[in-house]
Amino acid sequence: MSNYHIKHLEEYYQVYRKSVREPENFWGEVAEEHFMWRKKWDNVLSWDFNTPEVKWFQGAQLNITENCIDRHLLTRGDKTALIFEPNNPEEAAQHITYRQLHARVCQLANVLKDQGVKKGDRVCIYLPMIPELSIALLACARIGAIHSVIFAGFSSTALSTRINDSDCKLVITSDGSYRGSKSIDLKAIVDEGLEDCPGVKTVLVVKRTNTAVAMKEGRDKWLQPLLDKAYQDCVPEIMNAEDPLFILYTSGSTGKPKGMVHTTGGYMVYTAYTFKNVFQYTENDVYWCTADIGWITGHSYIVYGPLANGATTLMFEGVPSYPDYSRFWEIVEKHKVNQFYTAPTAIRALAKQNISFAEKHDLSSLKVLGSVGEPINEEAWHWYNDVIGKKKSPIVDTWWQTETGGIMITPIPFVTPTKPTYATLPFIGIQPALMDEKGIELKGNQVEGRLCIKFPWPGMARTIWGNHERYKDTYFSAFPGMYFSGDGALRDEVGYYRITGRVDDVIIVSGHNLGTAPIEDAINEHPAVAESAIVGFPHDIKGNALYGFVILKESGESRMHDNLRKEINQIITEHIGPIAKLDKIQFTSGLPKTRSGKIMRRILRKIASKDMSNMGDTSTLLNPEIVDVIKDSAL
Ligand code: PRX
Repeated sequence: MSNYHIKHLEEYYQVYRKSVREPENFWGEVAEEHFMWRKKWDNVLSWDFNTPEVKWFQGAQLNITENCIDRHLLTRGDKTALIFEPNNPEEAAQHITYRQLHARVCQLANVLKDQGVKKGDRVCIYLPMIPELSIALLACARIGAIHSVIFAGFSSTALSTRINDSDCKLVITSDGSYRGSKSIDLKAIVDEGLEDCPGVKTVLVVKRTNTAVAMKEGRDKWLQPLLDKAYQDCVPEIMNAEDPLFILYTSGSTGKPKGMVHTTGGYMVYTAYTFKNVFQYTENDVYWCTADIGWITGHSYIVYGPLANGATTLMFEGVPSYPDYSRFWEIVEKHKVNQFYTAPTAIRALAKQNISFAEKHDLSSLKVLGSVGEPINEEAWHWYNDVIGKKKSPIVDTWWQTETGGIMITPIPFVTPTKPTYATLPFIGIQPALMDEKGIELKGNQVEGRLCIKFPWPGMARTIWGNHERYKDTYFSAFPGMYFSGDGALRDEVGYYRITGRVDDVIIVSGHNLGTAPIEDAINEHPAVAESAIVGFPHDIKGNALYGFVILKESGESRMHDNLRKEINQIITEHIGPIAKLDKIQFTSGLPKTRSGKIMRRILRKIASKDMSNMGDTSTLLNPEIVDVIKDSAL
């Protein structure tokens, strides 16, 4: 027996030991007992972290949608697979059963086929949080097309860069989207982006807001009439375990976003197994993850992980503050949510509101609370635990990444004793290591270093789309023979892990992963700007906010500065999206640079955080005098 569902701490240790000592036996058993394969694998795992090359379940054949939908039809056909809670509380929620989901996925799969989409083609999905979004992922997977979901908050430039990087031939979008009291013209953003995307031949448009949109002859088609004509069954494409399932972009320290490639078999096994255990999901529970499907959390823990377990998964179109700050709690009460998974930014924003917003709702259905995306501070952890969980629902602080595909370090609720701000123990099969800067592993407890993983796990990304060298450089070069996460962590006296944050130039703002380089590139496009540097500084709600140091070509009059600040943020919004806007912009005459021309960000980070004490060693700076100049006019 593969111990699919872990229920005691002793069992965790026992299963963990097995997963580490005999990983192939362990994962082979999980895969065999709990999934539907068209053909079994020849080999559970082959790997080499130097090339790097990782293959799980090689030789096996399957279709992930058969595992997420078809196999439930017999026993769970009338069970709700998806609950859709609209932005507007007056609009009725939708309950989509497994049988209905099957029909809708098949219809869209058939439409895609009719539009010429074939196995291996890339399809871009740029949709708000509506059922068609989940259905679109699954429809692509049904026919073996590789989906590339772009978060619908990204700008037209960000959209076109990503579409071109992976050469998508079709885009699925909607006329518009609702977010709180606002509505956004998504189709117009797509139209603008596609001016630079000659490879896109077809755009399928879902009607959501009924706003007037321009439809380009020969390219744009309303989706509903095509669905109405489509057959409700579609034979699944048989995929190899290592065939790509999707591409999902994440920011890097350097310019271009990285299209992380996840494959089919290992990703399915890992997301399903983590979902079952990390949320202790049992039949008839209602599970809600508040993430957007545009991020990995939504892919793995709104769509694939829950559906592979036959779960009921809720998706919410709106925002926590609309119509007021009780919305999340109203939804928990209305749908009797059992597992609730959100981000520290949301928790901090909600904790700032009057307590009555939470207290006026019956939250007694909650059994497990989750946190993901950034470190959770102690205050937010306690508020979540006390006010929402009433001290009876364990908090699972789950550490993982787009690259890891699924949860890596986490408590298992009712199994692992929790500790505020600690992600606690490695999940089954995960072998973390903390490394010092010289590349030596820090053994034992009470150590702090760079967080690496020593052994492959089934859910890991296999490459960066079109750039395997970059995959190797980014993740497998800093500590040869290991996967390097880019995060720092400490291990306490009992072996619990606490994630301390990024150690590279990626900044996590409101749980969004932002690279400094693309933002700086955008700012430098402003005709008045000569150079810029971005750092993060602590922010009450967002965790981090962005602080920009900008050198102007001509210093100009300070009364112009406010306008320039607006223009710079406008450029960032156009190139990336509003999530990357700067909270503070300081104009300066220079930046602290080493002799080799590298900006010493450590100093800028201290200034941005108002920590003006000891600036550390500045002797390697070419221009040490600039430090005081910047300090004196810090914002
Ligand atoms: O820095 C870590 C932080 O989020 C980064 C990954 O971001 P992304 O790929 O967008 O995926 C987010 C959702 C999985 C990590 O490198 N992070 C994620 N979870 C935690 C976290 N930091 C602290 N604690 C966490 N629980």
